[in-house]
Amino acid sequence: MNEIKIFSPATVANVACGFDVLGFCLDSVGDEMVIRKIDKKGIFIAHIEGFDLPYETKKNVAGVSALAMYETLDVDFGFEIEIYKNIKPGSGIGSSAASAVGSVFGMNELLGRPFNKTQLTEFAIKGEALASKCEHADNLAPALFGGFTLVKSVSPLKILEIPCPDDLYATIIHPQIEIKTSEARAVLPKDVPLNDAITQWSNLGSLVHGLHTNDYDLIKDSLQDVIIEPHRSKLIPYYNEVKNEVLAAGALGACISGSGPSIFTLNKGLETSKKVANAMKKVYQNTNIEFDIHISKINTQGIKII
Ligand code: HSE
Repeated sequence: MNEIKIFSPATVANVACGFDVLGFCLDSVGDEMVIRKIDKKGIFIAHIEGFDLPYETKKNVAGVSALAMYETLDVDFGFEIEIYKNIKPGSGIGSSAASAVGSVFGMNELLGRPFNKTQLTEFAIKGEALASKCEHADNLAPALFGGFTLVKSVSPLKILEIPCPDDLYATIIHPQIEIKTSEARAVLPKDVPLNDAITQWSNLGSLVHGLHTNDYDLIKDSLQDVIIEPHRSKLIPYYNEVKNEVLAAGALGACISGSGPSIFTLNKGLETSKKVANAMKKVYQNTNIEFDIHISKINTQGIKII
């Protein structure tokens, strides 16, 4: 096999109370990429569609993660990468992570899978860092593993796969404004009051427990963010209005997806997820901001060959 086409999914990082550690994988939106073995040594970005991204390997997220893997190989061939980008950069649903994992996943398949998913995440962290200016894996891990993942530590990299209830869905609104992760990180305080830290880690622990035990009430009770949301929500137009409407429509909880501007909810069942989507639409259709809405079951497979 010399060529492979893959679907690299969008993801939701942070999940309210798990800043930089928790994430889950979506199934209804993602990028497609083609990875091809070529005679010429090196990593080359051969084609990009969808958004204007750099062709220079060292400036391209998919290129940087591919290079991180390539440098560990002793081979007399190279790879070229085609990127069909559907996830808008700066959307808050893991656009850079999808690119970063896509190249290394595809190369690994063509090489006969010498690396496990944690090792692939290590390579992908290098690509993600190009976009967000810091090394974190909360979008990368769910894109590669699927489902919910908890990044226990980055160095050494340790990823835990967390089960989730069968009837859990996400609804996401993506207002068409760009928030760069590096800028959304710059607005965060360096120190956290102890009381807020206690609330946050209690919510993270109980959310993980609720996911393990299929306890939708506990999931609902845990989807709160007292540390990050107060600072970042100011960057997102109509954030509070959306949150109020989706909770009234039956969402278990709502918060900023990754570093925004997307807002996600978790919901029990497809019917509620549709009601939540309508509630989001109701708020944004009266504004001059364009938006997309996605309803997705939690994607327990993650990145895949198509
Ligand atoms: N955990 C990251 C953040 C996700 O919120 O800054 C975005 O890359």
